[in-house]
Amino acid sequence: MSQDKLIKDINTKYQDLGENPDPYLSGLRYTNPVNYWDYCEVDTLLTLQKPKTFLQDENVFIMYHQVNELLFKMILSEIEQVSNEDSITLDFFVAKLGRINRYFDVLISSFAIMKYGMDVDQYMKFRDALTPASGFQSVQYRKIEIACTDLNNLLDARYKEKADEIIGLQSKIDHLYWQAAGKNYKTGKKSLMLSMFEEKYGKELLATAKKYEHTNLRAVYNSLNETDKKSPKLIKAMKALDNKINIKWTMTHYRTAEHYLESSGKPVAATGGSPWKKYMHPKYQKRIFFPELWSEEELDTWGHEHKE
Ligand code: HEM
Repeated sequence: MSQDKLIKDINTKYQDLGENPDPYLSGLRYTNPVNYWDYCEVDTLLTLQKPKTFLQDENVFIMYHQVNELLFKMILSEIEQVSNEDSITLDFFVAKLGRINRYFDVLISSFAIMKYGMDVDQYMKFRDALTPASGFQSVQYRKIEIACTDLNNLLDARYKEKADEIIGLQSKIDHLYWQAAGKNYKTGKKSLMLSMFEEKYGKELLATAKKYEHTNLRAVYNSLNETDKKSPKLIKAMKALDNKINIKWTMTHYRTAEHYLESSGKPVAATGGSPWKKYMHPKYQKRIFFPELWSEEELDTWGHEHKE
């Protein structure tokens, strides 16, 4: 592009904003050249690890969680683009699902860092200093779930039969499967892990539920025409996502919890205090984002074996 054309385009950009382009062009003469460390905020990033104990491996625990949160953010950004697209095409949808699935591949394969990257003795010591915090309190993970499917598919298994009686988004949120990790089913009393999480993020989660009520990935799939809905590459990508998040990641996470929390031979309580052996295994809550795409048998045996 010629310099004249460049300057003309820059002028047009600011004129379209109702601004005088001259000070903007003038200011360009004084800006610093971009460098890697400022652009990626490397110095700040490396100050974000603040261990609670002197045990060295706690840093692995913190940083791996931080890496996960960044990947969750990347996943949410892809889902958001699908949700915001008014005239979705099959290719666009499949491409975005491909990206999300690749992020999950990283999340699943890298979980070995949690399982083998920390000394069991060190973990069993520093974890006590983290009570009652838990990955359970990752709001981005919850947002991913809410952005993928209808809230009815995330209900606590004990309420799924009565889904029709649970009216309104807030009421649905109050009956989601993860309440089972921190709420006494009979008395309604909540654990500190859960009540702190709700106090911090309750409003944000409701706003997310509203945003994705009609534009979550499942809703977008249902809005496609019948031919696109039957596309083998689309169905394959959606089932792969369901499998990756709701079985593979979940099982890798569960096996890691077993590795540490059962290292003495019998299970110890989780920092968040959930009945974790039952809560974390996918065969109990059967979270399934796109149940319409699986056979009856696959639904019945969900979590009993890995599906490819
Ligand atoms: C040694 C490593 C880990 C152990 C032992 C572990 C253990 C647990 C346990 C027992 C729970 C159930 C809630 C509770 O009572 O605390 C839980 C929930 C959770 N953890 Fe982890 N976790 C580990 C690493 C991670 C990592 C790296 C992430 C990534 C962000 C993560 C994300 C989550 C999420 C999203 C939940 C809620 C899942 C659900 O509701 O099904 N965890 N974890």
